[in-house]
Amino acid sequence: MKDLLAKKALEFVRDGYVIGLGSGSTAKAFIEALGRLASEAGLKLTLVATSVDSELKAAEVGLGHMLRPLWLVDSIDLAVDGADEVAKDRVFLKGRGGALVREKIVDYRASTLLILAEATKLVPAVPARNPVPIEVVPYAWRHVARDVERKFGGVCRLRISDSGRLGPHITDNGNYIIDWTPPGPLGPEIEDALKGIPGVVDTGIFAKRRDAVVLLADERGVYAL
Ligand code: 5RP
Repeated sequence: MKDLLAKKALEFVRDGYVIGLGSGSTAKAFIEALGRLASEAGLKLTLVATSVDSELKAAEVGLGHMLRPLWLVDSIDLAVDGADEVAKDRVFLKGRGGALVREKIVDYRASTLLILAEATKLVPAVPARNPVPIEVVPYAWRHVARDVERKFGGVCRLRISDSGRLGPHITDNGNYIIDWTPPGPLGPEIEDALKGIPGVVDTGIFAKRRDAVVLLADERGVYAL
């Protein structure tokens, strides 16, 4: 299904575009498909990755020479990303893979944001099944966790590395992630409310791209939300 979504996403690509590469397995399927298209069609693209992982993938499929740091591009035509949960009102929950900060920087700046997701990720409101990832400055992590629990309820857990390295998960920005399980679904205003806590870098609540194009896939094929 990820390959079907990736193939459909190629229809949004134009020669000369600056493209934001999302992170995660669905974004990687898109990067692979883009690698094939770019070499077949001789496309000239500029690519901005939202994680070191996506950068490595782009290099692996022959797109390394098109990668640029964000500060070297003036604008982003298209960003293609995945999501952990997609609400019908186009609020997204992201960050299970820990790339939420760079994803939000790129996704929010793109002229067109394309979100690719398996239809099982469609939920009435976020979060439905996953905790909300909150990237925090390590210095502040315990105080942020306590503030979030006191203000909004629920439970915060420091994300621990699952890579074999002992200790907290470290993001590409050198920060920690707190996974917050709130008492119930959240309104879109929680995005700004969480960011108002000193020490919070950003969160996996993406409530400000209601104009995003969302492609869903199930056994019937790919369709727009
Ligand atoms: C990473 C993300 C990913 O987009 C999200 O976790 C979806 O990943 P996948 O496509 O592997 O299901 O936000 O930080």
